[in-house]
Amino acid sequence: MRLSHSAPVILATALLFIHAHAQVTQTEVVATTVTHYYTAPAPTVPLSSQYSDDLDFRTSILNSTNFYRYEHSVPFLYWNTTLAAYAQEYSSKCDWQHSHGAYGENLARGYTNVTAAVEAWGDERKDYDFSTTNPTGFTEPTGHFTQLVWLSTQSTGCGWTDCDGQNGLDGIYLVCEYWPPGNLIGQNNYWFKQNVFPERPAGDDGFNELEATRGATGGVPSATASASPTASGTSMASANVEVRRSNLWAALGVTVAALLFGLGMS
Ligand SMILES: *[C@@H]1O[C@H](CO)[C@@H](O)[C@H](O)[C@H]1NC(C)=O
Ligand SMILES: *[C@@H]1O[C@H](CO)[C@@H](O)[C@H](O)[C@H]1NC(C)=O
Ligand SMILES: *[C@@H]1O[C@H](CO)[C@@H](O)[C@H](O)[C@H]1NC(C)=O
Repeated sequence: MRLSHSAPVILATALLFIHAHAQVTQTEVVATTVTHYYTAPAPTVPLSSQYSDDLDFRTSILNSTNFYRYEHSVPFLYWNTTLAAYAQEYSSKCDWQHSHGAYGENLARGYTNVTAAVEAWGDERKDYDFSTTNPTGFTEPTGHFTQLVWLSTQSTGCGWTDCDGQNGLDGIYLVCEYWPPGNLIGQNNYWFKQNVFPERPAGDDGFNELEATRGATGGVPSATASASPTASGTSMASANVEVRRSNLWAALGVTVAALLFGLGMS
């Protein structure tokens, strides 16, 4: 919640709604570091190892996330266990709204694997205008993408729970936290101009999967992608209309709910 000046800012992240209708049976898996409570999909659709295997989970999140970051010329994220623990705890509540924590946050529900969820966030880039003078800034349909590729964000941590219809939340609920958080809005999109860049002309040429996923095992990847000088501000992501004030700054959250219907589901 630190910010170096007093200008009002609007901070937001977005919700991603996907409705899944998987047939499920109750199961519990105790992993090495976190406990996932989930209901396994019907036997014909086994739970993706991207969820059930902790290393696969971390690797898949980082690989997909850093693939977008590479294409948009910002350094790779590494895995942050503090964020992951927070995300895991929050996802277990099966509460389909933002946690109002100190981190950036992307939510997804109903995706059968991690890659598909992150790609749904990343593919929002098709709706983003990267104009250097008048970029899109924060919008509901692009907020996950801009958090994903936000320059000054350094680490991520995610957790998931199969909510099995709890609180009306079907399927697997994926929660990802980002630190320092992105989607800092205000000052004529100054922060977006500083932190969100267009796709590099060479696309994914030179993308190094090993480097991109190094953070999954506790390492901190070197910055293999370069970008313009970093904006050093931190921000706070929140959802729903609210006004926050502290001694140094005021932040205004906006309601953000991106309604996406995919995967052939209603
Ligand atoms: C990493 O992402 C790239 C680009 O999407 C993909 O081609 C590759 O198969 C992924 N690797 C893993 C281990 O997920
Ligand atoms: C992980 O995120 C927390 C949350 O803000 C931060 O305080 C901490 O420095 C991060 N850990 C590392 C190793 O960067
Ligand atoms: C993830 O799910 C999507 C959509 O169901 C599917 O097309 C894709 O092959 C899956 N990827 C992996 C790595 O399981």
